[in-house]
Amino acid sequence: MDIKVVDNTKDIVCDVLIINKFEGKPTSNPLVNRFAPESFTGKKGEMFVIHTQKEYPSTYILAIGLGKEQDMDNNVVRENIAKAVKKCLSLKAKSIAFDIETDYTFGMSAIIGASIANYHFDKYKTKKEHRISEVYISGVVPDSIETAKICADSIKLARNLANEPAAFATPSKLAEIAQGIDGLKTVVYDEAKIKELGMNAYLAVAKGSVEPPKFIHMKYSVDNPKKRIAIIGKGLCFDSGGLDIKPPSSMLTMRDDMSGAACVLAVMKALTKLKPDVEVHGIIAACENMPSGSSYKPGDILTAKNGKTIEVDNTDAEGRLTLADALCYACELGVDEVVDIATLTGACMVALGTVASGIMGNNDEFVDNLVKVASYSGEKFWKLPMWQEYRDNMNSDIADMKNTGTRYGGASAAGMFLKEFVTDDVKWAHIDIAGTAFLEKPQKEFCKGATGAGVRTLLNYLNL
Ligand code: BES
Ligand code: MN
Ligand code: ZN
Repeated sequence: MDIKVVDNTKDIVCDVLIINKFEGKPTSNPLVNRFAPESFTGKKGEMFVIHTQKEYPSTYILAIGLGKEQDMDNNVVRENIAKAVKKCLSLKAKSIAFDIETDYTFGMSAIIGASIANYHFDKYKTKKEHRISEVYISGVVPDSIETAKICADSIKLARNLANEPAAFATPSKLAEIAQGIDGLKTVVYDEAKIKELGMNAYLAVAKGSVEPPKFIHMKYSVDNPKKRIAIIGKGLCFDSGGLDIKPPSSMLTMRDDMSGAACVLAVMKALTKLKPDVEVHGIIAACENMPSGSSYKPGDILTAKNGKTIEVDNTDAEGRLTLADALCYACELGVDEVVDIATLTGACMVALGTVASGIMGNNDEFVDNLVKVASYSGEKFWKLPMWQEYRDNMNSDIADMKNTGTRYGGASAAGMFLKEFVTDDVKWAHIDIAGTAFLEKPQKEFCKGATGAGVRTLLNYLNL
């Protein structure tokens, strides 16, 4: 999608010109009075398609209602544009134009909404989906459009990676992609080095697969950074459950179990272009969880990087084992803050559905701030409790802890498990995107499949 900032969209030759109106407010746009029907009040969700019969440079005019002016925010803008773009796609439009005559900061949300709605994963289809290729936009600050483009591309990259079949997006492939990002210092550790570093919980998960694990550490740095942050993405390139194998219906979409890793890769790439004043470490402990003669087994006892021992209660609770070692590694870097993002628990999905991601951590202020950033970024994060009772359920008779507790409260239990591997001197937040990373049916501006969950929030957080 090529985005062009113009002074005025009114004379642009294109397939669809989008015009809009606030509810209950007279508009200065003469096109509204000329083309929109009298019944166009500007109510939210209202939409009229008008064929201009060659009386105008655009083939169609699409009139959309924005709702009440006082209710306008970035989320309304993004959703409105996304809806309009879907309509334009149904008209088989290739070029569209719109005007953000309201508020300059809304330009970013508009671009991001348009780009999300224009997305389809059709790499493997011989007949490609129809897409809008040109967008003309006016009334915006060109700088904000540059940032929006970088953010939109980042979301797209995360969606592409998570939508890819596991046969393509292997741990080695993720490592190769990471090493191909210019502007980052990246190291990749193989099995021998992972063992040497003492990351035995992670290695145990990887053991059952013929795909070798790859521990990926990307670093974005600047002189005199304001702070130092590590972001860790769960990178299970496929989660079959291991010997505690999943039923077919649950396994079907488990190529998405590296959505956290996809988010981290995409964010790290965007940072090289946004160039914020912070140091960011992107960390992925990539592997597959497979059943085989070499798999780790229920009842095994693993020693994580910080020396704590874990009794394997269920081989399908593998993400927290890989994250345990990655968290230890991140804390040893001496960073101020650590954020991990993971498709971690079905329980989080049961609690919050596909609507919101769960978030928890060791510092309320830090977690609350991320919730706030998510909200204006167009994502929903919901804080879940970190009570000791959840941890008590994971007590083991033979090791420091088990990797699962009871069936209930699974998202918080997983959070309490991870907390064991975070040192007290770092602010830490854990984002559970099990429900939000991958959609089984279209939802708002998103089509089926990967959503790029977390990208917008992390980018806005790091780029403040
Ligand atoms: N990757 C899954 C979690 C998941 C479930 C992600 C549904 C996306 C959609 C994770 O590794 C897992 O299997 N978790 C188990 C934990 C249980 C064994 C304690 C779960 O949630 O069932
Ligand atoms: Mn699992
Ligand atoms: Zn998993």
